[in-house]
Amino acid sequence: MTSLPVSIGIAGIGNVGSEVVSQLTKHKEYKKSFFIKAVSYRNKKKKRNFIPKGIIYYSDAKKLAQDKNIDLVIELIGGSEGIAKDVCFIAIKNNKHLITANKALIAEYGKELSELSNKNLVYFGFEASVAGGVPVIKVIKESLVSNEISQITGIMNGTSNYLMDEIEKKSIDFEKVLKTAQKLGYAEKDPTFDIEGIDAAHKLAILSLLVFKKLPRLSGMHVRGVSEVTLYDIKTAREFGYKIKLLAICSNENSFECSVEPWLISQDHSLAKIDGVLNAIEINSNLAGPLLLTGAGAGSKPTASAVMSDIFDCLAGGNRTGILRNGEKINEISNSKSFKSEVKFYLRVSVVDKVGILSDLTSIFKTFKISIETIYQDLQKGNQVANLIIFTHNVKRTQMQKAVLKINKLKGTVGNALAFCIYN
Ligand SMILES: NC(=O)c1ccc[n+]([C@@H]2O[C@H](COP(=O)([O-])OP(=O)(O)OC[C@H]3O[C@@H](n4cnc5c(N)ncnc54)[C@H](OP(=O)(O)O)[C@@H]3O)[C@@H](O)[C@H]2O)c1
Repeated sequence: MTSLPVSIGIAGIGNVGSEVVSQLTKHKEYKKSFFIKAVSYRNKKKKRNFIPKGIIYYSDAKKLAQDKNIDLVIELIGGSEGIAKDVCFIAIKNNKHLITANKALIAEYGKELSELSNKNLVYFGFEASVAGGVPVIKVIKESLVSNEISQITGIMNGTSNYLMDEIEKKSIDFEKVLKTAQKLGYAEKDPTFDIEGIDAAHKLAILSLLVFKKLPRLSGMHVRGVSEVTLYDIKTAREFGYKIKLLAICSNENSFECSVEPWLISQDHSLAKIDGVLNAIEINSNLAGPLLLTGAGAGSKPTASAVMSDIFDCLAGGNRTGILRNGEKINEISNSKSFKSEVKFYLRVSVVDKVGILSDLTSIFKTFKISIETIYQDLQKGNQVANLIIFTHNVKRTQMQKAVLKINKLKGTVGNALAFCIYN
């Protein structure tokens, strides 16, 4: 491994990068074990007094990744394409160790990055890419090394979790909560990645790669976010003993299954108790048994903590090249099955209160072999519209999808019917 002190180049001095610079420069081993040789950021006019004098500035982050005097490149720019991708590939190709927090990049190019780092025998650290300050990568790679993991179930997007909680606590609609979250900095200006499940899917893909050696492509994965969940559904779920949580689940028990979507989960389940912006990952394994890791899934300090952990790992000179131990083969999965092909469903159908609608619905249920456990009618203001809340027995997902399409075409339904799986 590289001789000490290790020279570090940091590309991206934003939320996370600034904190990493600050943690590194005030560390007692600064200049003894490591030092920052160069940094790169886009806006040269922005004041960054926390960066010590004498550190080289590169306007072109690719040049930083090529600098022959740099041993370790830390990429904290973000994005799966463009400059961040270039920096990571150039660094490894130039035999430099690489640390990144970039989940989107690893979910897309994890296989290539891993293979290249194995080939060039360089360290590839990505602890910060999943669940911020929660040390899930290390636990899987090291602590659970002799376990067979059968399932990973996680709340991996703090923004979605925060939104679901706030809707319930404040009893206000999704859009209003989202606007407040954006003002408070809990949601991005463009919240698509968070509220449509994409961010959670990136993290799930990384964990799947690590645990099952399978990299599921997002284009072939069932990914559904929380944007359709309403205050009404959250309250109704609660009345029946459930919470609605965005769960990212990957299982290899019978066949490989991997998906992200909102589930109704019993309010007694440990994952139902994960509040606000927290993340949590439940790992089911044969020796250690079920394990729940929880903590801050984002934020500059927790994420910098994960980057620092990788830096010290790299300094310790472990042989942890690549994503997998000993360069095992990674399979890309273009189409993943959703977690559980047959599940119980919560189905909400809004109907005008007229004779015959119930028998129309029943006939659709019969056609698609949907057996009902319980059905409730909830008359809305003015008694013109009723919400039908239906809890089903186990139903094939495909059958439920077809049924919902039919229900939405029925005369007498108001808005779209909504179905969520029930986790048990
Ligand atoms: N923030 C979190 O809580 C968190 C949690 C987990 C993982 N992550 C990951 O950590 C990474 C960084 O996130 P962040 O929140 O720190 O992002 P950020 O605040 O937006 O910072 C991005 C940095 O990259 C720089 N940059 C952009 N384009 C560049 C270019 N062409 N050349 C050089 N530098 C460029 C920006 O420069 P300027 O400063 O000049 O604009 C900025 O310093 C991302 O991959 C993100 O997914 C973040």
